[in-house]
Formats: sequence, C-alpha cells, structure tokens
Amino acid sequence: MPPAIRQILDMNAFDASRKSGPGNPLLERRLQNFGAASVLFYRSPIEMVRARGAWMVAENGKQYLDFYNNVPSVGHCHPRVVDAISDQVATLNIHTRYLTRVVDDYLDALKATLPGHLDNLLLSCTGSEANDLALRIASTWTGNRGFIVTETAYHGNTLATTDISPAALKKNPLPDHVVAIPPPSPLVFEDGVAQGFAAAMAKAVATLDRRGYGVAALICDSIFSSDGVFSDPAGFLADAVDVVRQAGGLYIADEVQPGFARTGECMWGFQRHAVRPDLVTMGKPMGNGFPMAGVAARAAHMNRFCEDVGYFNTFGGNPVAAAAGQAVLDIIREERLMENALNVGGQIVAGLNTLRASHPVITAVRGCGLFIGTDLCADGDPRRPDQSITTDVINGLKERGVLIGAAGKYGNTLKLRPPLCLTAGEANIFLNALEDTLGQTR
Ligand SMILES: Cc1ncc(COP(=O)(O)O)c(C=O)c1O
Repeated sequence: MPPAIRQILDMNAFDASRKSGPGNPLLERRLQNFGAASVLFYRSPIEMVRARGAWMVAENGKQYLDFYNNVPSVGHCHPRVVDAISDQVATLNIHTRYLTRVVDDYLDALKATLPGHLDNLLLSCTGSEANDLALRIASTWTGNRGFIVTETAYHGNTLATTDISPAALKKNPLPDHVVAIPPPSPLVFEDGVAQGFAAAMAKAVATLDRRGYGVAALICDSIFSSDGVFSDPAGFLADAVDVVRQAGGLYIADEVQPGFARTGECMWGFQRHAVRPDLVTMGKPMGNGFPMAGVAARAAHMNRFCEDVGYFNTFGGNPVAAAAGQAVLDIIREERLMENALNVGGQIVAGLNTLRASHPVITAVRGCGLFIGTDLCADGDPRRPDQSITTDVINGLKERGVLIGAAGKYGNTLKLRPPLCLTAGEANIFLNALEDTLGQTR
C-alpha cells in the first residue's frame, strides 16, 4: 500500500478526538474558542509562558530548545528588537500615508540586501498577503492566469494563495489554473535534479497552455521547506526558471521560510541558485515575531499593476514594523548570524550524518545553514517513508526538551530550523537528544 499523504497542518498535530482522561482546562477553552480551526502541536499540547534566545519555557518550568520556530530567527525576545518596538510604539505608530524617516531608512537597508533590479518594496503584515499580491502582479503583467507550484508547497491562507498550496488542501484537487510538479528530489529525478525539474516545468507549462490559462508565474519556496527541504545541487533552479521565462511567465521567489540569512551563505535562498527573481516575497523572520512581510518587485511590474488597481495595507510597513525590521537586519549583521548559521548548521549536518551511520532509519540529510531536513524511513529504505516513526521521534524529542517539526509529502522529514543564534553547545544538546530518542524508537 502506498504511504498516506500528509496535509501540512496535520503534521505533529494534537488530535482532539483521541484525548482521554481528566481535561486540561486551558486546552478545553482553546478547543471551545478556536473550534474546528484549532491546530495545536503534540499528542499532549504544551502551555508556554516565556522564551529567550533558542529556549522556550513551559508553565511547569520545563525548558525546551526550539528547533522548530523560524520566526524569532535572531533569538526569542531579542532585547534589541524588544527595545526598538517599544521605543517606536511609544513615539509614533501610523500608516504609510505620511512620510516617516524610520520607514524609508528601513526600506533602503532592506533593498540593499536584494538584487538591484528589484526597485520597489511593498510591505504587508503576513506572507500570505505578500504572495497574494505577487500573484496579482504576475497575472496583470503577463495577462496569463496559470501558476506552477511544487507538489507539497504551502504559500498562504488567502483564497488565491490557498489555491496554489497543495499542502493545505484536504479534499479538493488543485484548481484548473494551478499545476503542481514533483519536488526537486533525488528520489524523483536521481542524479539529474536540474534537468528533471526543468523537464517537469516544461510539461506544466504545456498543460497550462492546453487548458487556456498560459503561465503567469512559477512560485516556489527557495528551500522547498514543506516539500521536505531541497537545496542541492546548488544552481538546480536556474534551468526551470528559464523554461518559465521562455513561456512568458514570471518567477516569484517565496523567501518567507529561507530568507534573512537562514541558509548561511547568503541573505536569500534564491541566491544559492544564481537566479534573478522577478518578484521576491518575504515574511516570518522579518520582524522576529512582529507581524510583517513584503514583496520586492521591478518598478515596471509595480507600475503596470497600479494602473489597474490601488494597493494599500493599513498596518503594513508602519513605523513600528520598520523599527523591528531594522533591528533584525542590524542584529544579523552585527552578531554575524549568517556565519553562525553556516558553521553551526554544518556541525548539525555532520552530526546527523554520523548518527545515520549507526541508525539506518535516517535515510537522507539535506539542507544548508540552519535549514535542514532529515528523512526517516522504515528498514533504512528511502522508498518507505515512515510517518509514524517520525511522529514518535518528534514526541520523544519533546520529552527530552527539544521542539522540532515535520515536512514532506509523507510527513517523514524532520525539519530543523532553530534560531540563527544557536550555539555549538545547543547543537550538541539536540544531537544527543536525537541519538537517545532514536535508541528508544523501534
Ligand atoms: C513558504 C511560505 N510562504 C508563505 C507562507 C504564509 O505566511 P503567513 O503565515 O505569514 O501568511 C508560509 C507560512 O507558513 C510559508 O511557509
């Protein structure tokens, strides 16, 4: 029987239908308040009370090393971000219809990290809004309505971005104007990832043409995180992007996950592939927890879009967001977090490969910097993804004080995204906890 496909929000999710015993009053209130939309982690959810650096603290005093959360990327509650937000919110907090120096100082600093052809930046509050806007810009510019995504992609929660997020769809197939291609995985394309991925792209373009939509854009997460983390070989994306361009489509680099130095070599994930995106979307770590996101675009594309419709975002790019974003950029540079991601990420990959030698359940280790994926499979067979072992390992790590998530079509990839300030000692705490957990897992 083929392994079951996992929906992204189901991975490591608490299952309210299986709860037993005396209820946790806070859990009951949450289930009442959120209803069916409630998504909590773990077989037994944790109540968190505070966090600092790479650590979170639960209500019972237990400390957890955070290998899951790539939002507080420069460290939970980093004092400089806290101060920047507090000072700005106590001084001026308005929308972008007035001139405010803090906003343009930030936009200039952010633009300096991006390729020069992306002249304009538009700020929003969530990655979903940023992607939604990028899709609209691409459709307006190209006159086409079709989009190409990868098979387990997640790009957001609006109507348009849910349509292009196979990982979010529980029952319905993808809409007709969206074509999904396999992830750039050696399990799919063996040694020819670049060629195979480009060929899959050409097929998707032909499908959209046949259906009468044409291709407005390829949108992909530059590290393919929900597909299971695919970073190698560096440069593999370039041929596929060429295919889309030749068909008249744009290339949208979704940097919501890999952006802001996480991949350790560059500020942005797409830079690993030496490609020039037409649009770059960003979010999550941008404000280290302050809700902010954005789209970088060519002026010509933005001009064309704004001829048709206006765009205004009440909270997007307000001075408090700009202050938070500026603090994040300053911390990445001054605390040398990109270099740290490369070094400590390399240490973790080496440690995982050592564990792999004695634990055949680990069938692959991938990634760059502090964005790492590790496949867990039955009997050491890479073609037998094992989501139940993966869930056991995730819960076993939790018992040992480490928080981690899963990814991939079958939910059998451990997804490692600790804060960029992770120390070598903290990396060892994780590796020891994983070794111990694997030793106890069937
Ligand atoms: C690759 C990617 N793009 C976009 C989004 C949507 O961002 P947000 O949840 O801020 O709307 C996510 C969120 O998980 C994401 O992982």
